[in-house]
Amino acid sequence: MPIYYHEETKTFRLDAKDSSYAFFVNRFGYLQHLYYGAHISDTSLSELAYTAGHSSIHALPPASTGAFFSLDVSRMEYPCFGRGDCRGTALSIRRSDTGTVDTDLTYVSHKLYAGKPTLAGQPATYATADEADTLEILLHDTVSGAEVTLFYTVFRNLAAITRRVAIRNAGKNVLEVERALSLCVDFHDVTDMDVVHLYGEWARERSVERVPMMHGTQSVGSLRGASSHVHNPFLALCSHHATETAGDACGFSLVYCGNFLASAEMDSDGGGRVLLGIHPDGFRWRLEPGETFETPEAVSVWSSEGLGGMSRTYHRLYANHLVRGKWKTERRPILINNWEATYFNFDEEKIFGIAEEASKLGIEMLVLDDGWFGKRDNDKSGLGDWFVNEQKLKGGLKKLVDRIHGLGMKFGIWFEPEMVSPDSDLYRAHPEWALQVPGRENSVGRNQYVLDMTRTEVQDYLFGRFADVLSQGGIDYIKWDFNRNFSEVGSLTVGTERQGEIFHRYCLGLYALLERLHNAYPDLLLEGCAGGGGRFDPAWLYYAPQIWTSDDSDAIERLDIQYGTSFCYPPSAMGAHVSACPNHQVHRTTPIATRGNVALMGAFGYELDLRTLTDEEKELVRQQCADFRRDYALTHTGDFYRLISPWHDRTDCAWCFVSPDRREALLTYVVIRAKISIPRYVRLQGLNPDALYRCQETGEEYHGDTLMHAGYCIRKTNSDFHSEKLHFEVVG
Ligand code: GLA
Repeated sequence: MPIYYHEETKTFRLDAKDSSYAFFVNRFGYLQHLYYGAHISDTSLSELAYTAGHSSIHALPPASTGAFFSLDVSRMEYPCFGRGDCRGTALSIRRSDTGTVDTDLTYVSHKLYAGKPTLAGQPATYATADEADTLEILLHDTVSGAEVTLFYTVFRNLAAITRRVAIRNAGKNVLEVERALSLCVDFHDVTDMDVVHLYGEWARERSVERVPMMHGTQSVGSLRGASSHVHNPFLALCSHHATETAGDACGFSLVYCGNFLASAEMDSDGGGRVLLGIHPDGFRWRLEPGETFETPEAVSVWSSEGLGGMSRTYHRLYANHLVRGKWKTERRPILINNWEATYFNFDEEKIFGIAEEASKLGIEMLVLDDGWFGKRDNDKSGLGDWFVNEQKLKGGLKKLVDRIHGLGMKFGIWFEPEMVSPDSDLYRAHPEWALQVPGRENSVGRNQYVLDMTRTEVQDYLFGRFADVLSQGGIDYIKWDFNRNFSEVGSLTVGTERQGEIFHRYCLGLYALLERLHNAYPDLLLEGCAGGGGRFDPAWLYYAPQIWTSDDSDAIERLDIQYGTSFCYPPSAMGAHVSACPNHQVHRTTPIATRGNVALMGAFGYELDLRTLTDEEKELVRQQCADFRRDYALTHTGDFYRLISPWHDRTDCAWCFVSPDRREALLTYVVIRAKISIPRYVRLQGLNPDALYRCQETGEEYHGDTLMHAGYCIRKTNSDFHSEKLHFEVVG
C-alpha cells in the first residue's frame, strides 16, 4: 500500500507515483506537515519538522509546555484560526456558546484502506481498490466539540492525491463554520517558486499568468456563484526554472463549480502555504449538534517533469477517474450547432437545411441552440418556459427530431435550466423561485434572474421539463448553458440563520439535478457551457464529458484559450468548433483548414451555415470529419504535449498528441504572425527516441530522437494563420 505509517514517530508518508507527501503527529498532538515533492524513501521523517521561531512574538499553545512550538511558524497540515496561527488558515469556526472563533484540533485516530470512498451529493474523482488507497485522520477540539476528518486518497499510477474534509459538530452547542477549505499544503521553502494561475474574461478565458512568489498572499477566486470566466479553480507552484519538460511543478485543483478561493502565501521565513476551497466570503454554515459539513474535493498533482508533466497527470486523472458514463470511452459525435449560423432567427426548414448539408459532409449531430422554446426571439424573454415554440418549429419538436434522425444524424438541444426571464410564464407563476433578497429589486444579467436551485420544487420542475423534451423521439445531447453571475443571493425558503449557506446549497441543488439526469438518461451526452467557458471546472466534468470552451470561436484566439485550458483539463473536454469568417467575435479571417486544425484539438464540431461554403471548403469539411474519426483514439486517449506557447512571442503555436504506445504522433503547427524566410524547428515530445517515424503527409523519415531534439522543420512560416497537421507513425 503506498501509504506508510511509522508508528514510533507517528509519521505518515503518502506515495502517489513518483511523489511523496508526509506529515506527522507531533508530541503535542498537532498534525505537522513535513514534505511534498519527488519520491523519497524514508518514513521516519519527523526530524524534518520546521522549528524556527521567536518566542517573544509568536503565541505558544499551552500544550507545548515550555518547549518552543508555535502554530504560527510551524508547517501545519490543517491550520485553524484562533490559536495563534496568523497566516491564512483552512478552518474558522465561530462558537455559539462564546461568540468567539477559536478551534484547536489534535489527533485522535486514523484508518487506512484500499480504494476511495464516495462523496455523497458532490462530484469527486473515483477509483477502485486496485487503483488508490485512502487515509482518514480524525482530529478533535475538546473545547468546542468540533470533530474533523481529513481524507487523503493516493493514486498508485498517477502522481495525484485527493483531499477533502468533513466537519462534525460532536458538541452540545451550535457551531458556525465561517471557513472550511479543502486543502492546505505548507512548504518549507518557496523562495525560488513561481505561482501559475489562469485568468480571463468572457470570450477570453484561461490565459496563463506566471509570477514569482512574493511575501504575503497572492490569491485568485470567484464570488460569482460560478467558478467563472475570470479565474479558474486551479493554481500551481513551480520552480523558477521549471519549463514544460523539466523542473518541479505542483498543481492544485478544486472539484467545484461555485465560489472558490485559491491562495499562495509566503511567510517571512520563506515558507509557503497553499490553500484551496470554497471562498469564505459570503459563506457560513450552521452546524447543529450532530450535523456534518463536507467540503468539496481538492486534487494536488506533483511533477518533476515540469508543467507539461503536471498537466498530463491532470488529463489522465480527469479523463479516466472523473468523467463518467458511456461518453467517457465512446467516440463523441461531430456536431453542427446553429447558434452562429442563425442566432434566434430560424425555423424548422432553416434548421433542417443546415442539417441536410451537414449530413452530406460527414457531420453526425445537429444541435439546436437557444430560441426553440417559449417566447424567445431575443435574449429578453422566455427562459424557464421549456415548451417548444411551434411558431418557429411548425409541427413541433418531434417532427423536426424525426426528420433529423431520418438524415442519419443525432439530435441535440440547448437549455439554460438555472435561469428565468422576468418576462416568462414561469416567472409570472413563480416569482418566489428566483434567488432574491426581500425588500430589494433583483439585478438583471443578460435580462435574466437566477433560479433558486436550493428548492426541490425548482429541481423537480426542471427535471420534468427535461423528461418531457427528451421524450420527444430520442434526443441524444443537451447543451447546458448558464449566462450570468449571481447577485442578491437569498432564498425565500431558508431562515435568516442559514442564508450564508445559499451559495453552496445552490451548488448542491445543481449537483442533485445533474445526478438525477445522469441516472435517468445514462446515454445522454451532456455538454457544459456558461456563456462559453465560465464554468470550465472539474465539477462539471463529472456530469459532462465536454464543456464549451469559449464563446470566442476565432481560431487564433482559441490558441490562447485552449493552450491555457490544457494546464488542468484534457483536450477531449474542450468543445471546439469551426465557425464562419470573418469571425463573429473578432472579425478575423482565417483559412478554414486552420479553423479545422485548431478545433480538431478538442471535442470537435461546426458552428456556421454550411450551405454558404464553396465546394472546395465543403471538401475540406469532409476531410476534417474523416480526420477527426481517424485520429479520435490519438486525440482522446493519447498524451498531449504543449510544444510552442502562443504567448512566446505571439508568432506561432504548436502541440502534439502521442499514442500511449508511442507509435503514433500528431503534430499541429499554426502561424500567428508571418515571418519572412525563417523556418521553424518544432521539437516534438513524448516519442520513442529509438523508433523510426514516417511523416504520412511528406514521406520523410526520422528517428524519435531527431524529431525531439533537432526538431521537425516547418518551412512555410511566411503566411498569417497558415497551419499544418502532420501525422507520424513508427515504420515497421
Ligand atoms: C451562450 C453560449 C452560446 C450560445 C448562447 C445562446 O452565450 O455560450 O454558445 O448558446 O448562449 O444564447
